[in-house]
Amino acid sequence: RSVYVLNGPNLSRLGTREPDVYGAETFADLAALCRETGRELGLSVDVRQTDDEAEMLGWLHEAADGRVPVVLNPAAFTHYSYALRDAIAQRTAPLVEVHISNPAAREEFRHNSVVAAVATGTIAGFGLRSYVLALHAIAETSE
Ligand code: DQA
Repeated sequence: RSVYVLNGPNLSRLGTREPDVYGAETFADLAALCRETGRELGLSVDVRQTDDEAEMLGWLHEAADGRVPVVLNPAAFTHYSYALRDAIAQRTAPLVEVHISNPAAREEFRHNSVVAAVATGTIAGFGLRSYVLALHAIAETSE
């Protein structure tokens, strides 16, 4: 069973980007952690990152067409992309919204997620472990 782990803008910069907020581990470390967790759960994990909204929309359409579960860190798109929300609303399998930090504990503009209402659920604030927890949620939710 296949799962997409989709990451939005600036997440390729993990490790150098605001390490006080996002930690010292790199995107490669995150990808390895997700694939390793997938192996333990019997899931084939496809980890992707883009800074391009159109590319992210294409991946979400692909997931909807293939009934593929998704772990999604929409990054800054979380807070303003109605296009992402509309793409997620088309989903045909569970989708878990994840955040490394806890956006509710940060700046006001991060308090609102325009995608949360169309996700299956949200996991935020556990660092890279947020992804591990989300993959466990997918493993336990998928039929
Ligand atoms: C983030 C939180 C967002 O507010 C921010 O724009 C990001 C990362 C997180 O994982 O904590 O880029 O999604």
